[in-house]
Amino acid sequence: MDTQNLLFLLCFFVISLFSGQQQVVEGSRVSPFPFRPKKLFVFGDSYADTGNNRKDSASSWKYPYGITFPGKPAGRFSDGRVSTDYIAGFLGIKTPIPYRWRKQLAGRLKYGVNFAYGGTGVFDTLAQEPNMTTQIDFLQQLLNESVYTKRGLKTSVAFVSVAGNDYSTYTATNGSAEGFPAFISSVVSQITVNLKRIHDLGVGKIAVSALQPLGCLPRSTARFSYQHCNETENTLVNLHNQLLAQAVNNLNKQANSTSFFVLDIYNAFWTIFNEKEAHQESPKFENPFQPCCVGVSAGFSCASVDENGAKKYTLCSNPKSKFFWDTVHPTEEGWQAVYSTPAFQNSLKQLW
Ligand SMILES: *[C@@H]1O[C@H](CO)[C@@H](O)[C@H](O)[C@H]1NC(C)=O
Ligand SMILES: *[C@@H]1O[C@H](CO)[C@@H](O)[C@H](O)[C@H]1NC(C)=O
Ligand SMILES: *[C@@H]1O[C@H](CO)[C@@H](O)[C@H](O)[C@H]1NC(C)=O
Ligand SMILES: *[C@@H]1O[C@H](CO)[C@@H](O)[C@H](O)[C@H]1NC(C)=O
Ligand SMILES: *[C@@H]1O[C@H](CO)[C@@H](O)[C@H](O)[C@H]1NC(C)=O
Repeated sequence: MDTQNLLFLLCFFVISLFSGQQQVVEGSRVSPFPFRPKKLFVFGDSYADTGNNRKDSASSWKYPYGITFPGKPAGRFSDGRVSTDYIAGFLGIKTPIPYRWRKQLAGRLKYGVNFAYGGTGVFDTLAQEPNMTTQIDFLQQLLNESVYTKRGLKTSVAFVSVAGNDYSTYTATNGSAEGFPAFISSVVSQITVNLKRIHDLGVGKIAVSALQPLGCLPRSTARFSYQHCNETENTLVNLHNQLLAQAVNNLNKQANSTSFFVLDIYNAFWTIFNEKEAHQESPKFENPFQPCCVGVSAGFSCASVDENGAKKYTLCSNPKSKFFWDTVHPTEEGWQAVYSTPAFQNSLKQLW
């Protein structure tokens, strides 16, 4: 080997050595973050799930879910892509595979894993799927099995979605109105325990979603002909988000870090709702509160069929014109709009 080649190789070696440590330049973005995130681990519920729920019971596996992407029902609670897909896209990696496919699609484990199960919360809910503690156990198990190393997790990001199933379970099981604030406090405490545990397992950056305005979901606005939100519910959401912001600050103080941050889904949703309130000439969504796919009457929901297989729901002609897909979940167009808001983009900047 001549000297020139040797020099070239040496240079290459030195550059490779440092590129893992130095500031990452992403377009015009100069990162103070000493690494480029390579993997995404996702915990939580249907706002983030990309196919963990059981095929025999979850609506996410039934028509018309998935009609926009991938073109058929595939386990997402939407007509198409959800939050996880947009966050993975932002990181420049492929959407991590659902945990249930870790054996069949082992080649994709290099992008991380999605442990989120629709219907779950930090506590047990009515969904009978793994709660967040169990989801984190799954990651710990993969570490125990040396699928990942603690060191490898340092260059990873966790996205934790908490979209309110603990609260719908509380309401459905006769939780009292007086007891609600104390329950919110216990939910946020459990979220805090979970975030800390994900950090202790070695994950470098951890994003937790703020709670979206629950009182503006179609399941609440239906009563008001999809014209306005339930303010009682939104007041409770504000308490949750205040406590969450404090908890995340404390976690960063305790760890002397900027490892933890809140993804501001709350203001992202409001940005979209306000476009209509502001009486814009042509808001993106004519009425953001009105969903695309709804049950024909109480007791039926999107994807419901009767015993003869006749459909018991109505479907809008163009899902792109709606913010909400069903009574709880945004459409792909809705998630795209959420992702594009300044509130969401500014949150994501905390990754670098
Ligand atoms: C989560 O689920 C596990 C297994 O069912 C259960 O033992 C545990 O108590 C649950 N954790 C919480 C915080 O609800
Ligand atoms: C992983 O290993 C640790 C230490 O051996 C053990 O305490 C823990 O129970 C294991 N966890 C799982 C989920 O396998
Ligand atoms: C809630 O209260 C209703 C009416 O009192 C009762 O029928 C129902 O079984 C209760 N549900 C739970 C989960 O306790
Ligand atoms: C608003 O939400 C609260 C809490 O879930 C509920 O008790 C109340 O009935 C709702 N109000 C209306 C008008 O639907
Ligand atoms: C926190 O981190 C800063 C910067 O790395 C360092 O200067 C400081 O000593 C640390 N404080 C504690 C309490 O570890």
